[in-house]
Amino acid sequence: MAAEELQEIARAIVADGKGILAADESSGTIKKRFDSIDVESTEETRRAYRELLFTTEGVEDYISGVILYDETIRQKASDGTPFSRLLQSKGIIPGIKVDTGAKPLAHAEGETVTEGLDGLRERLAEYHELGARFAKWRAVISIGEEIPSEYCIWVNAHALARYAALAQEAGLVPIVEPEVLMDGEHTIDRSFEVTSRTLHAVFTELRDQRVQPEGILLKPNMVLPGYESSSQVPDDEIANETVRCFLRHVPAAVPGVVFLSGGQSEEEATRRLNAMNAIGPHPWKLSFSYGRALQATALKAWQGKEENVEAAQQGYYHRAKMNGAATTGTYVPELERETVTA
Ligand code: 13P
Repeated sequence: MAAEELQEIARAIVADGKGILAADESSGTIKKRFDSIDVESTEETRRAYRELLFTTEGVEDYISGVILYDETIRQKASDGTPFSRLLQSKGIIPGIKVDTGAKPLAHAEGETVTEGLDGLRERLAEYHELGARFAKWRAVISIGEEIPSEYCIWVNAHALARYAALAQEAGLVPIVEPEVLMDGEHTIDRSFEVTSRTLHAVFTELRDQRVQPEGILLKPNMVLPGYESSSQVPDDEIANETVRCFLRHVPAAVPGVVFLSGGQSEEEATRRLNAMNAIGPHPWKLSFSYGRALQATALKAWQGKEENVEAAQQGYYHRAKMNGAATTGTYVPELERETVTA
């Protein structure tokens, strides 16, 4: 695929004021989310929930792309329109999760390697046919006393680069997601060190495997103390440390960095993204690719009931709008109290 076309897709995804909705929860993860609101996870409830998100009026002002799961890209809205076509008709680019999950890494207690390379070239061709124009692969790095090992970091980086090269070949912009988990008691300095080692390995492998940096998006964690850490820090320190880490490792040729929310609250995820953009300009766009931080309010409002669809859509629309503002550093907490209207 021509380099320019990939760049064009990547740039459209990180256009000012816009970011990504991650709605690619695997069957196991979406079941966990539905359990929290006491809704049974069936093919139909999953479809109905995704339809609610995708048909939210006006959200395309803030959402440029949506990541789908294999089941979802094959599903249709109630009126028979395939979800990928529905999104395209709103000017939203469909994307697809293509890894098959993190599995225990041999000879490495407590560490994982992400699988899904077998048959990937053929699967990418099919997803392109189904309308996807970008893809996602998530590697997971855990922080503990003795981990991560260099072994774990490098095998995951190698797999990420193999995936990214195949995605570019197939005409899909690879979202490269090395997620350093935010769980644990570690300090922000330890998060910086591990994120730094991880990004170094990832960009080394991407380069060695001839991936064009102009045609990818990076989806990383923010650099922050572990959730169980006793030394929590203010948002501006998280913003400064995250940007400082990326300036060391992420080539300026990469068009955008789209953060995962990783269990931060909705407002934390918005405030911290905003804080980073407020200290710009940066070599790359800094935007969002949030799952939980765009859906938590909506999911709670929905409760699996048709009569709650509108309230749920308002919740999702509001978070999309707040994060849209954060991509340009123009978010202020007062916006949260504005009347929430979709
Ligand atoms: P969260 O924003 O909920 O972390 O999900 C984003 C994602 O796609 C993780 O792979």
